[in-house]
Amino acid sequence: MKNFTLGKRLCAVASFVRDGAVVADIGTNHAYLPIYLVSSGIASGAVASDIKDGPANCARDNVRRFMLEDKIEVRVADGLCGIEKYKPTDIVICGMGGELIADIIDASEYVKNEDIRLILQPMTSIKELRSYLSDGFLTIDENIAEEDGKLYQVICARYDGKKRNYTEAELELGKENIRKRGELFEKLLNLAIAKKRKAIDGQRLGGRDVSELENELKELEKLR
Ligand SMILES: C[S@@+](CC[C@H](N)C(=O)[O-])C[C@H]1O[C@@H](n2cnc3c(N)ncnc32)[C@H](O)[C@@H]1O
Repeated sequence: MKNFTLGKRLCAVASFVRDGAVVADIGTNHAYLPIYLVSSGIASGAVASDIKDGPANCARDNVRRFMLEDKIEVRVADGLCGIEKYKPTDIVICGMGGELIADIIDASEYVKNEDIRLILQPMTSIKELRSYLSDGFLTIDENIAEEDGKLYQVICARYDGKKRNYTEAELELGKENIRKRGELFEKLLNLAIAKKRKAIDGQRLGGRDVSELENELKELEKLR
């Protein structure tokens, strides 16, 4: 397929999909990601899944437009319900809130397999998602993308059944992002610091105890 490019956010997601993967894109909406992955030869096949008929119909139209019906199946389903039928190796859940992503993973037994890769890109509640993953999931890698002036974090993980303790800064920014200090890391860190300062000011105005938030701020500032 010609002239099909992804935005930087979905490119960052796609970069973690393994060669030859069978991909499940949960909450696919337009199915751009599976269309890109299959047409570029990265994925051998995909299931594009959405809970709503409207996005699934949009996905179906796009898959048809790119003549990929033999490689991409579109389905309507809640989260990972019934996903075992497709035997996906790489599961993508992106563009949703972190808590919803955690709920979708938590409701599935299929993901409790060391060979299954999870590629997650939450729009909100990243700390809550990392906190959920800390009990049973190993973070393989992480990255940061910037699109239209916004930063997005992508987490690549797999089940290993082990429990980990992350610091507040690690939950906010990602242990792998901190270790790698890629080109967008400083920007992400500065944003987190500004957000924390704003929260402290707000709590202080309301006469609340800010000592815990101040400790979290110090932890972030140490990373500079
Ligand atoms: C904002 S769109 C994100 C589309 C695409 N994944 C992306 O990142 O560009 C979120 C999609 O998730 C779908 N969705 C929400 N809850 C879901 C669930 N429990 N299971 C499957 N899809 C869901 C919505 O219908 C919507 O199409």
